[in-house]
Amino acid sequence: MKIATHIDWKAIRADFPILEEQVNGKPLVYFDNAATSQKPKQVIDALVAYYSRYNSNVHRGVHSLSQQATAAFEATRRKVQQLLNAREEAEIIYTSGTTAAINLVASSWGSLHVQAGDEILITGLEHHANIVPWQMLCERTGAKLVVAPILDNGEVSLDAFAQLLSPRTKMAAFSWISNALGTVNPVHEMIALAQAVGAFTLVDAAQAAPHSTIDVQDLDCDFLCFSAHKMLGPTGIGILYGKREVLEPLPPYQGGGDMIKEVTFEKTTYNELPLRLEAGTPNIADVIAFGTAIDYLQEIGLEQIEARENELLAYATAQINEIPGIRLIGTAPDKRSVLSFMLGSAHPYDVGVLLDQMGIAIRTGHHCAQPVMDRYQIPGSCRASFAFYNTFEEIDRFITALHKVQKMLS
Ligand code: ALA
Repeated sequence: MKIATHIDWKAIRADFPILEEQVNGKPLVYFDNAATSQKPKQVIDALVAYYSRYNSNVHRGVHSLSQQATAAFEATRRKVQQLLNAREEAEIIYTSGTTAAINLVASSWGSLHVQAGDEILITGLEHHANIVPWQMLCERTGAKLVVAPILDNGEVSLDAFAQLLSPRTKMAAFSWISNALGTVNPVHEMIALAQAVGAFTLVDAAQAAPHSTIDVQDLDCDFLCFSAHKMLGPTGIGILYGKREVLEPLPPYQGGGDMIKEVTFEKTTYNELPLRLEAGTPNIADVIAFGTAIDYLQEIGLEQIEARENELLAYATAQINEIPGIRLIGTAPDKRSVLSFMLGSAHPYDVGVLLDQMGIAIRTGHHCAQPVMDRYQIPGSCRASFAFYNTFEEIDRFITALHKVQKMLS
């Protein structure tokens, strides 16, 4: 895919105030985008505008400020619905992030559908957020957690995934893009395989949503979730998409205000979707600012963003391979945005600290995906992850810095 020439990436970069910062006396190179993206001034301004001009609670007041806040809060739901091509806004549930979304499903859906002897299938590539809630569900119910292994190049073994599915499988839950390695999973095929045995499906799109277009009707998954903070939005807000027919029977996850129709001491009746799954005053400001982040991403175009990030990744991959002692962790043919690596026998922590001295921010460690590190028998890796506002010059600086680090540590 070619990058459209009309996009002025330099002007786009200027929207991100933090990218002008110096760290340890050097201009910041921010390559930790898989952990959290930076925010454009439009998103920061949306937060300030809410708190300074119309801060008030939603769904509760007849007064003008509350109505303005409610309209802006619900406008984001519509934007998410359109972003995902979901059938209706009621299928979009606000959560505090991907982790909360998966916990909601494991708890609420799990209590309805999972019993002793059932199986939950995940893959060896998962983030802890897509492992631990299922382990907890299995402990509660006596169900079994089954894991499809990954191949040496960081791809999920599709053969193993298919073989591990059976009529016992109640849920197949897997990431679209691995946060630790960048592998893109063939989610369409995985969903179709799971559906063939009658399993529900959940796609962890935390690393996919910032980099790709998503069409939930085309995917036909039951659930899909992601976090705003990895896609230019604020922290503390995430999305759980669910098909209406799957969400409708779920028991509420939490009780409280907003999720009810009527409360008496004898009996409570619950609200309609989506509010039934959103107890309490929500994260209003961050939801509204997330709407601005979506506008921003769509103005550039997610296809353009994906193409740009692929070019950055290809450029960095070619150059890093020239550095003596480099071992790439994860070499799947289809990868996005993430370069995970070891530098000779150096501990990733030492590499990260030395790069930080040069103003370069990468993540080191297990990336909340310890089983992936165990698979490669490493304590953790160095991970550079790119966003569209990064530049080829920044990659040059990173490579020059890595050459230095390699000499210092060898
Ligand atoms: N899940 C985040 C990461 O990959 C925090 O770094």
